[in-house]
Amino acid sequence: MSDVLGATGLVLNEPLLWEKGQPGRRGFSLPARDVEVSPLGESLACRGPDFPDLSEVDVVRHFTRLSTWNFGVDTGTYPLGSCTMKYNPKINDKQAALPGFSAAHPLLPQELSQGLLRLMFELEHLLAEITGMDAVSLQPAAGAQGELTGMLLIHAYHKSRGRKPSKILVPDTAHGTNPASAALCGYRPVPVASNEQGILSVESVAKAMDDDTAGLMITNPNTLGLFEENLKGIVDLVHARGGLVYGDGANMNAVLGIMDVGCTGLDVLHLNLHKTFSTPHGGGGPGAGPVCVKKHLEPFLPVPRVLEKESKVVLSDNFPQSIGKLHAFYGNVGILIRAYSYIRTMGAANLKRASQLAVLNANYIKERLKTTFHLPFDRPCMHECVFTDKNQEAAKVMTLDIAKRLMDYGFHPPTIYFPLVVHGAIMIEPTETESKDDLDRLIHALQAIAEEAKSNPDLLHQAPTKCKRRRLDEVAAARKPVLAG
Ligand SMILES: Cc1ncc(COP(=O)(O)O)c(C=O)c1O
Repeated sequence: MSDVLGATGLVLNEPLLWEKGQPGRRGFSLPARDVEVSPLGESLACRGPDFPDLSEVDVVRHFTRLSTWNFGVDTGTYPLGSCTMKYNPKINDKQAALPGFSAAHPLLPQELSQGLLRLMFELEHLLAEITGMDAVSLQPAAGAQGELTGMLLIHAYHKSRGRKPSKILVPDTAHGTNPASAALCGYRPVPVASNEQGILSVESVAKAMDDDTAGLMITNPNTLGLFEENLKGIVDLVHARGGLVYGDGANMNAVLGIMDVGCTGLDVLHLNLHKTFSTPHGGGGPGAGPVCVKKHLEPFLPVPRVLEKESKVVLSDNFPQSIGKLHAFYGNVGILIRAYSYIRTMGAANLKRASQLAVLNANYIKERLKTTFHLPFDRPCMHECVFTDKNQEAAKVMTLDIAKRLMDYGFHPPTIYFPLVVHGAIMIEPTETESKDDLDRLIHALQAIAEEAKSNPDLLHQAPTKCKRRRLDEVAAARKPVLAG
């Protein structure tokens, strides 16, 4: 009986809609019929699935309750940072929902899509201006697809010069998608070790670079949250040996208005709109990973290109050297509208300020926690800082335990065990939107967890203890996911 009445005060179990439905319930009411019944023809008779009968309130409560079981960036402090997505101002969703945008069909004649095409044209130019590059394609659907596009562009460039190099250099700090994208394009990714400061040195690249190398992929700031200080020397070296340099610009949210990528000599760069320009991305998309290039790669960009002709915006396929299409139609346009809205509502000065605040917040956390958790690279960081579980090793408490316990304190766990070059990595990216109060709450929670690791390590081994689900067998959860309850 106490189960039925919910003796804890909060009933956290929710049946499936099929279990909840009762014959005869309705979520709508229609006026009484005032015409004769006219049976549908055989071909029109409804033979769909047997949907449950539910009232409006049944449905609203069901989905509202399910939504409270999740922790997202709208729920509270989210130290996973922009990796999934940073906080998205709601005005951007509102703009994307304007009927002129949301109801536009991709097959609409171009003369009837001038508003949307103009937005895409302007967004390309805004991204070119922000990065200091010459031309942009908005087509790739995610960062990883942007990387693949970049690899295809580099391949097309070498091919146009009669070259067929087979390797791409990739730093050991790179996101896993970097070597995967290179391999997908037929290149052999060759790892290059970063130095004791956590960045690439000109010397290590020089050692790996040879005539069979198509180029280098470099992430700046890198995934340790560190600025690649030798970037210019590295780019010059790769160019001198006939290679091109791909910039993984996923972390541009640390350097907006501060670093002119074009001046560093990078040939191609992708942006992750979810990380830098506040668009949704969770669960792998749909997202957008625009690619920005210097002049010499422009002829190879995907088609259709968005061009301006006689004050009209038009789509053109007339680029004979293009690598072709990367996405149906023009990419995930709803995401592009949000990014455009973010850039226009922020303006240049506030984009720069967002990067400055993201860097300030990460450095604040780093300084406040570096005596509690081991900090492998004790130097100024950019938008994220990386600790490890080394100080908790003696108590047999690991990174996973710390991350799970953070959920008991009401925080989303940070990125863990990445980047791979740091054993037991705990990567914290606060982003620019967190207030000092919220950062302090996170810092206090992590300090309390470090104390618990000493006094009651079992508490951490069992965490989370206050969530709807206790700790999962992660292998079983991945191999045999139970998606229904
Ligand atoms: C540094 C870096 N490169 C590449 C990617 C891949 O981007 P996406 O998840 O959009 O494919 C990410 C993910 O956010 C990233 O952090």
